[in-house]
Amino acid sequence: MSDTRPILFFDSGVGGLSVVAPTRALLPHAPIVYAADSAGFPYGTRAESEIAARVPALLGRLVERYRPRLAVIACNTASTIALPAVRAALDVPVVGTVPAIKPAAAMSATRVIGVLGTEATVRQPYVDDLAARFADDCLVLRHGSAALVELAEAKLAGEAIDPGAVAGALAGLLDQPSGERIDVVVNACTHFPLLSDELAAAAPSGVRFVDGGAGIARRIESLTAGQEWAAGPDVLVFTRLGEHERRVAAGLAFARVEAL
Ligand code: DGL
Repeated sequence: MSDTRPILFFDSGVGGLSVVAPTRALLPHAPIVYAADSAGFPYGTRAESEIAARVPALLGRLVERYRPRLAVIACNTASTIALPAVRAALDVPVVGTVPAIKPAAAMSATRVIGVLGTEATVRQPYVDDLAARFADDCLVLRHGSAALVELAEAKLAGEAIDPGAVAGALAGLLDQPSGERIDVVVNACTHFPLLSDELAAAAPSGVRFVDGGAGIARRIESLTAGQEWAAGPDVLVFTRLGEHERRVAAGLAFARVEAL
């Protein structure tokens, strides 16, 4: 009997689509359930305690409803705060998203790298730990931007993006002392690769951006190696299905749109 179980992706909003894209490229037949916690959005300005309470409970409900073979927390904020609790709560494999500091350090010639995430992510001890383990000879500058998260949501809802707003958010990183020496920026929020053209246009030439999407896709491929994929409808699920969510859904190719 063929296996109809989907892969479940979870984020606060549209950001996790930047992880879905490289996954679809590797596993074109995998049915996908994409869940956005629009009722809890944005995560980046929330307290750790709120995210720690909310995310495992929601993932539990989603796994019960959609019976995935694998769950992907396609959100740096949720992963850096709640990954161990989610793993403990679920009986399916869970893949998290953590800032791509290791590849950034490997790429940097100047040994100054930037970490651009949400405010909640950039203050996590998890990030201190990654910097100490993989970039101990680098200066690691950090900046949390709620504005970029909102801009990515607006873009996917079909709105025009103000390039000045993207440049302003990036300046929060590049204008720090030694920021002019940054040659690699980690997109440590899954929303930000959705603004890759705008970020590249706003950055000085020579600054490269890196994120975890391709690495996560490879991890999913390896965890599901040898499994069969039976076609199933791709489902987009929101915890609140309002006007913004309907506009986002209209621009995406999901067969079904549901509210949790
Ligand atoms: N996409 C999320 C992340 O990777 C969070 C955005 C937000 O809700 O603030 O951190």
